[in-house]
Amino acid sequence: MRVAISTGGGDAPGLNAVIRSVTLCATRRGWEVIGIRDGFNGLMFPDQYIEGSGAFRLERHMVRGIGYLGGTVLGSTNRGNPCRFPVEQPDGTFVYEDRTDHLVSLFRKAGIDALITIGGDGSLSIGQRLYEAGLRVIGVPKTIDNDLDKTTVSFGFDTAVHVATESIDRVFTTATSHSRVFVVEVMGRYAGWIALNSGVAAGAHAILIPEIPYRLEPVAAMIKRREARGAHFAIVVVAEGAMPKDGHRSVVGQAADQAERLGGIGELVAQELTALTGKEARTVVLGHLLRGGTPTAQDRLLGTRFGAAAVRALDEGLDGVMVALNEPRVDYVPLVEAIGSMRTVPLDCDTLMAARDVGISFGDGA
Ligand code: F6P
Repeated sequence: MRVAISTGGGDAPGLNAVIRSVTLCATRRGWEVIGIRDGFNGLMFPDQYIEGSGAFRLERHMVRGIGYLGGTVLGSTNRGNPCRFPVEQPDGTFVYEDRTDHLVSLFRKAGIDALITIGGDGSLSIGQRLYEAGLRVIGVPKTIDNDLDKTTVSFGFDTAVHVATESIDRVFTTATSHSRVFVVEVMGRYAGWIALNSGVAAGAHAILIPEIPYRLEPVAAMIKRREARGAHFAIVVVAEGAMPKDGHRSVVGQAADQAERLGGIGELVAQELTALTGKEARTVVLGHLLRGGTPTAQDRLLGTRFGAAAVRALDEGLDGVMVALNEPRVDYVPLVEAIGSMRTVPLDCDTLMAARDVGISFGDGA
């Protein structure tokens, strides 16, 4: 059995734990493991790599000690989707080609029997297309945003929440010393999980998430109430995908073959809060810091479990499924179901209720 591993989309802490786990579990079964560089580029464009290194044999000594490293030793990309490959035309426009069958033929040529693809909704959708085109595929869910519906959590999220919480703790220091309002913008795309969990954990005073379109008047009122009782500072956590009621998301840009890039909402919120309260408001954008550095123990553990479950799935003859956490088990769900729906914060979830109970504003009250 020859199994390939590929990591696609944004990097997430815990990817290397999955790579290590797959390599150990597969080689212990006497299987061969092939690491593909930069999504599928290593296989599709071998000439761009030093002789033979685009898709190379992963041996157990090569994954020794990588579990605690952030990022992915295989590299990643969120460009050049092989199922909708952008080809630039002389006039600067793009034509999109479906290269799925070509990619499957490259897997066959390399003697690869199955693919373990580790990624978010984008990479898992590519996995589903490859499966439909005849390749044996197992998906492993990866996202710091926690927005994949069929697994209770994916690795990367815990580290992101941990880093965001610690960063908000640090912002408190200057906020209290200088009696300022601080707006902390965090990633999360169209889901508010990172903002909600880190904001509640760090004791923020307002949290703005995509699931609850906000008005800033209630947030300003909360800041003024705090002011009146002698608390001259406030922390507002804003998810990058949050949007004002009757307004729209803040988008930085969108390249031809990529998802829109969110960002900038934090500064807009800070400016408006200054206008409403007269207080100095500063913005901190945590951005990619949430994806970097050492994965938490939980993300390494989950990565190791997912990698082992993916190899077990192949051993059990499964195909076209994604491994999914459903404690105490790891289940297998059809890839097609996993990519079909996004998980956002339910408005009746306990964390949201607890946050409201302790007095956190979501910009939707009075
Ligand atoms: O999906 C993970 C994520 O980090 C989102 O939270 C964020 O919107 C996006 O990726 C940023 O992607 P990039 O690194 O391509 O700008």
